[in-house]
Amino acid sequence: MSPQNIFILGIESSCDDTSASVLCNGKVLSNVVASQKVHEQYGGVVPELASRAHQQNIVPVIDQALKQASIHKKELNAIAFTRGPGLMGSLLVGTSFAKSMALALDIPLIDVNHMQAHILAHFIEEENQEKPTFPFLAMTISGGHTQIVKVNSHFDMDVIGETIDDAVGEAFDKSAKVLGLPYPGGPLIDKYAQSGNPKAYPFTKPRVDGLNFSFSGLKTAILYFVQKQVKQNPEFVKENLEDICASIQYTIVNILIDKLKKASKDTGIKTIAIGGGVSANTDIRKALKEGEYKYGWNTFIPKFEYTTDNAAMIGIVGYLKYLNKDFTDMSVLAQARIKL
Ligand code: KG4
Ligand code: ZN
Repeated sequence: MSPQNIFILGIESSCDDTSASVLCNGKVLSNVVASQKVHEQYGGVVPELASRAHQQNIVPVIDQALKQASIHKKELNAIAFTRGPGLMGSLLVGTSFAKSMALALDIPLIDVNHMQAHILAHFIEEENQEKPTFPFLAMTISGGHTQIVKVNSHFDMDVIGETIDDAVGEAFDKSAKVLGLPYPGGPLIDKYAQSGNPKAYPFTKPRVDGLNFSFSGLKTAILYFVQKQVKQNPEFVKENLEDICASIQYTIVNILIDKLKKASKDTGIKTIAIGGGVSANTDIRKALKEGEYKYGWNTFIPKFEYTTDNAAMIGIVGYLKYLNKDFTDMSVLAQARIKL
């Protein structure tokens, strides 16, 4: 191998996906994700079960990532891992494993902020793919996060808006639970919404100052609405599932787009990138694209596999930090809450 090739192993274990990825000079050679099915029956992630599943998955997942990349662990230049934010029991597994492996191989260790990684996923090297130019606005929307970030450079970011309660993915998943849909319900709401009337049931949008979000009121409003309707007609949900899902999705997408419009107006920035599991949503994608001709936005949506939790995004941050020789030492600790 030529000495210019920098191989990074990325490890992600912040929530309920165990993932490992090998990158060469910022290009993904492998990105293996083991999603934990165990949580489905509980309607949400159970932290204790998540950390146990990470323990079971981490060795085979890393092994698979190295095999798929066709490289030997001795060829790795550094190991990057998610330090936080996330569930402590989950983070500990990836952190401890990364430390031991870096020590055994005698290579640098690089700690990565999971939220930064969702944003820097846009910098994974891909054929014919343009990257956002600085400064840009990044909206990170998932089951664990909802943020609008002003990205000045790779490692200079300001959070300019975030949720004050539930994350947007939680709003999708909890609404889906009210409708009797299995966890995670976000993709199902999206699916049913496609054949429903988005204006069938108007839900009030929360009033939150500035660029912050709130989703807990909406979830309660949906719960009360459904309970009231079911009292009158026990078959209400079954008979109107598409319209209910379309109305919920319409409200949530409007909340997100309204804040993005405000963020763009306030900052004068028209380059907009999204990331996180909820960016898979059909109507968010549509609304974002519409922003291109409506408001002159230049929008960026990463490939689906780099949007949900994955180790390739940890690997790209690892690569960028490697170029800056920004390494960490063995005293580094996992951190459940960590700022951008
Ligand atoms: O990024 P992710 O895989 O994990 C974290 O939460 O960090 O995001 C998962 C979230 C779940 O809440 C899921 O319901 C939501 O993303 N999601 C969607 C869609 N696909 C995934 N929400 C709405 N529409 C979708 N198509
Ligand atoms: Zn995430």
